[in-house]
Amino acid sequence: MENSEKIDWPKINQIIEKYNVNREALLMIMQDISDMYNYVPPEVIPVLVERLGVRKSLVYSVATFYKTISLEPRGKHIIKVCTGTACHVRGADKIMDALKEHLHIKEGETTDNLMFTLEAVRCIGCCASGPVMTVDQETHGGLDRATAVKIIEGHNKNVT
Ligand code: FES
Repeated sequence: MENSEKIDWPKINQIIEKYNVNREALLMIMQDISDMYNYVPPEVIPVLVERLGVRKSLVYSVATFYKTISLEPRGKHIIKVCTGTACHVRGADKIMDALKEHLHIKEGETTDNLMFTLEAVRCIGCCASGPVMTVDQETHGGLDRATAVKIIEGHNKNVT
């Protein structure tokens, strides 16, 4: 990726050293790196392999197993549209379509500017307020297409 020059290598090394270059801490190290970039950039994997003496396949297994860690770029904001039954009945598809159109991405993808990742989730327990979506930690219910787009735009404007 063209991101390689943006990697803060001193910071990556600091994280590795914070855990005493201990291979047992691979998960924590990957989580800390993920907190910095919202994903573990591919360029970092060979460095983890070399410094921690772990197999590349282990790095991939950790990323596959733990949902909070991704090897694909993730947006600064994670949008989750509930597609559970109650929300589906209340028009979740329309919300998903509106966001896909607005952001020019498909479900599961991230915008080129790394601002948003769009995901579908099963019931998040707010069925009575459906259709529902979450943006990071916030939950928004009673959505229609326009409101959903407006909420996303609000997050776009908050960027400095
Ligand atoms: S089905 Fe969407 S919150 Fe339950």
